[in-house]
Amino acid sequence: MPQTIIVLDFGSQYTQVIARRIRESNVFSKVLPFDTPVKQLERLSPSGIILSGGPASVLAKDAPKPDPALFRMGLPVLGICYGLQLMGNMLGGKAESSDLREYGRGELKTIRKGGLFEGLPPKFIVWNSHGDRLSKLPKGFRAVASSENSEFAAIEDPKRRFYGLQFHPEVEHTDGGRELIHNFLRNICECKADWRLDDFTKKTILDIRDVVGDKRVLLGLSGGVDSSVAAGLLHRAIGENLTCVFVDNGLLRLNERSEVEQLFSDNFPSRLKVINASSLFLKRLKGVSDPERKRKIIGKTFIEVFDDAVKSIGCVEFLAQGTLYPDVIESIPIAGNPAAVIKSHHNVGGLPKKMKLKLIEPLRELFKDEVREVGLGLGLPKDVLYRHPFPGPGLAVRIIGEVTRARLRVLREADAIFQEELFNSRQYYKLWQAFCVFLPVRSVGVMGDERTYDNVIAIRAVTSSDAMTADWAKLPDKLLRTVSNRIINEVKGANRVVYDVSSKPPSTIEWE
Ligand code: XMP
Repeated sequence: MPQTIIVLDFGSQYTQVIARRIRESNVFSKVLPFDTPVKQLERLSPSGIILSGGPASVLAKDAPKPDPALFRMGLPVLGICYGLQLMGNMLGGKAESSDLREYGRGELKTIRKGGLFEGLPPKFIVWNSHGDRLSKLPKGFRAVASSENSEFAAIEDPKRRFYGLQFHPEVEHTDGGRELIHNFLRNICECKADWRLDDFTKKTILDIRDVVGDKRVLLGLSGGVDSSVAAGLLHRAIGENLTCVFVDNGLLRLNERSEVEQLFSDNFPSRLKVINASSLFLKRLKGVSDPERKRKIIGKTFIEVFDDAVKSIGCVEFLAQGTLYPDVIESIPIAGNPAAVIKSHHNVGGLPKKMKLKLIEPLRELFKDEVREVGLGLGLPKDVLYRHPFPGPGLAVRIIGEVTRARLRVLREADAIFQEELFNSRQYYKLWQAFCVFLPVRSVGVMGDERTYDNVIAIRAVTSSDAMTADWAKLPDKLLRTVSNRIINEVKGANRVVYDVSSKPPSTIEWE
């Protein structure tokens, strides 16, 4: 078991970023709810604990608090933002609400060198996001850095190995943030950097063999990164005993089914069962416009179709899923925690318990970037590993209103043009996601001497690092012009193209 750092989650939108930064320093991290009892923490023998930020005020009556015994575990603790104020308050200092809220960039001045700040310059830019601040230090603590509005922007009690940062070292905008986390791990927690993905791959393959023996495993393949990497690992582990099932729900992009078949036959010569259930899905979606109803119908139909496939294959004992770590982390139900209100529809562990199959989730400890690295190690093609995410309900949530075959044809053709031009102009890999949306709005146009009255295609392209927030991409004019011309000229049924300039929040990435 690698050394572990625990991140206690007080509901910050950056909690998972903290956990990822730790892993980037080759140390294993685990995110747990803020009130996890110390007994449970002890079972993991952690090397240190980080208290995340959070949207609450430590001054509120119902402020989320950790098990107080945490501070008696003898372990290093780093409090970030809310975590610093909480530590300050719980250990006998005083937090107060400040008139001078600090949001965004600020300058940090270090007072003491070494420890957390080893190798960092005397002044640097940090990212703040807090209303409260610490006004009195607890006994044993001293200030190590200050900011414009806070003399205790960084504090320490080196004897007990307690540290606090008022700003967010985990976000990109904090210069030296990676070094601060790295210093906490190496200098303070004395972690050895023993989290290596190739070790993970080797160990997981052995574990799968151990658990599965000579039984058969079924995996739902979508052609996306997660299920492809899961298939790669399982194929390495058990070869022929892996059967993959790919369901064509009729809501796929142009040529998607044949691309998945190709990917499969090139990379995992195991059994692949392709089920064409498009007619069933489209029949059930007939007349349905409400986005959530569409999702429910698609989810339910998928389960039925998959269940039938399992029965027809027979003798299967295990079901594998490409669940990732962010899907496993419980979101903290604190008002203001964006993770808690994110659409409940994202397909997490979507298959029913009644299937009575034992579940294998070989990626459930990994973040997306780690999954890609494992995939590279397994020799999977880059274009699969770095492909944009595609939602489970497919094009159904990119057709506003009712899903029909005619609308699917228009959207597929338009989207294929957009994707092709994104590759031609080398923009594809700069984006988190880029796709077309079919709008059931008809507008007037002229083509040659004729008037047209056709549908509108919206183009959506966003940059993001985790889909929690996203910005619309400033695509080159030339690309937009080419895409618009080509769609209007080549796709029958579309005579107008618009570009979506909304960021998330307040909009979402998908239109439904
Ligand atoms: P939104 O639209 O909420 O999307 O900003 C965030 C990310 O989630 C994807 N998404 C989905 N994925 N089933 C999925 O598997 C869904 O129903 C679904 N809805 C949105 C979206 O493509 C983006 O990457």
